[in-house]
Amino acid sequence: MKIPNHIAFIMDGNGRWAKKRGLPRTVGHKKGVEALEKVVNACIDKGVKVVSVYAFSTENWNRPKLEIDALFGMITEFTRTKLKDYTVRGIKVVFMGDTTKLPQECQNSIKTIIEKTKNNNTLTFNICLNYSGRQEILYAVNNLLSSGKQSVTEQELKQAMFSKDLPDPDIIVRSSGEMRLSNFMLYECAYSEFIFVDDLWPDFDSKTVDKILDIYQNRDRRFGAISED
Ligand code: IPE
Ligand code: IPE
Ligand code: MG
Repeated sequence: MKIPNHIAFIMDGNGRWAKKRGLPRTVGHKKGVEALEKVVNACIDKGVKVVSVYAFSTENWNRPKLEIDALFGMITEFTRTKLKDYTVRGIKVVFMGDTTKLPQECQNSIKTIIEKTKNNNTLTFNICLNYSGRQEILYAVNNLLSSGKQSVTEQELKQAMFSKDLPDPDIIVRSSGEMRLSNFMLYECAYSEFIFVDDLWPDFDSKTVDKILDIYQNRDRRFGAISED
């Protein structure tokens, strides 16, 4: 069985999950956090080394303030309550995106979990917050310009990205049947396999991860070359 090194998830459909049940969208997000835990655990069991999740895009600021506040509240609580468990289980938590714009208590809990888990190596859990692919590329370009560079190599560009320490995703999964990237990992997705799952994100669990890995077995990744068989 081919086990991907890095799976990235675009967690979508929390709102629709709640709407179908006549519940507020925030309940969908809460269920989404539970699904996230199941997915991360399943990935660890399968031997995946990096899991990325798109948790809040730069465009998600266009949502109602109440929903945004609830989301950051949940993210703060998640990072606080997982701290001990993740430290024990060797999970390293990292973030991509401009976290300086997040509520202060969210920034504090992020800082703590990064610091406490930085030497772990069972799984790298990469949470993309106030992230977008275009913003990441811009950030890299501006950093390179301010260091006085006139031209850069591919390696130097990679080193200037938020994702500099991560391998490119082998698989990008999007839930809820939507087939778009919504500004996610635009640079890193060059050779990713795309898997679109109809299930809404709160319905994801270890069985969904099995299904994703099954689909991946039948993908022939050629990287521009010719298939061996
Ligand atoms: C994904 O679910 C979570 C975030 C984008 C924060 P949505 O909130 O986008 O759910 P839908 O797409 O409205 O169903
Ligand atoms: C993408 O989902 C962002 C995250 C999953 C955090 P959206 O629900 O924001 O994307 P669109 O608006 O449907 O493209
Ligand atoms: Mg959505």
